[in-house]
Amino acid sequence: MRRPIIAGNWKMNKLPSETRGFVESLVKLLSDAHDRDILLMPPFVSLSLVVDACQGSNIKVGAQNIYFEKEGAWTGEVSADMLKNIGAEYSIIGHSERRQYFKETDEMINKKLKRAVSVGLTPIFCLGEREVERKKGIERDVVYQQLTRGLLGVELEKIVIAYEPVWAIGTGKTATPQDAEEMHLFIRESLQKIYNKELAESVRIQYGGSVKPDNIDSLMAQPDIDGALVGGASLNIDSFVRIVRFK
Ligand code: PGA
Repeated sequence: MRRPIIAGNWKMNKLPSETRGFVESLVKLLSDAHDRDILLMPPFVSLSLVVDACQGSNIKVGAQNIYFEKEGAWTGEVSADMLKNIGAEYSIIGHSERRQYFKETDEMINKKLKRAVSVGLTPIFCLGEREVERKKGIERDVVYQQLTRGLLGVELEKIVIAYEPVWAIGTGKTATPQDAEEMHLFIRESLQKIYNKELAESVRIQYGGSVKPDNIDSLMAQPDIDGALVGGASLNIDSFVRIVRFK
């Protein structure tokens, strides 16, 4: 059985000064949720603080990005080793906002995935088609290409995948549970071809894109949806707690 994994991606939200109280409340409210992985992915400047506030709890902490070089003259970048060193255990890699606004390519994402895995940071590898691509009916080709290029030489057992249709992110337009399930199944079948059945069956695939308290239950009821990567709704305590406690 695949263990459910719910992650809150704060993006560029919440000041460090607003963060400790928020996280301490979450830790209390979710202290009995032991049958699922719960992750918080705050901005870099709040990571240490969140790691500290989550110490000894069932909540784990991750970054939203890493750089693929080990160290050196890369002004403004943060390495996987640094994140590991301060107690982060995960990192989002290849989020569509990074692909779209920061021009990250499949090749860069592949290097980042390998770097993260090499230091023992678990990547959440994001992929998903844009609206124009879905309208053209080429969403499977797009996702297959992202998958094969991104995963070249990557050990599947060391990562989590997040299917996030770009048209559903931050728009309030969630994919229907059936549409999402279809793509998750497609991803799993593709992974079976690229790797093998056992690995494809064991990898966890999160859905992301306007996940809310009122759609989480039907999404999680799908056989190939193993969790959620939650943006906007993770910024509010009540909605994030309800999402983590999906039924
Ligand atoms: P959203 O973001 O939940 O605000 O749509 C999801 C994501 O980008 O990971």
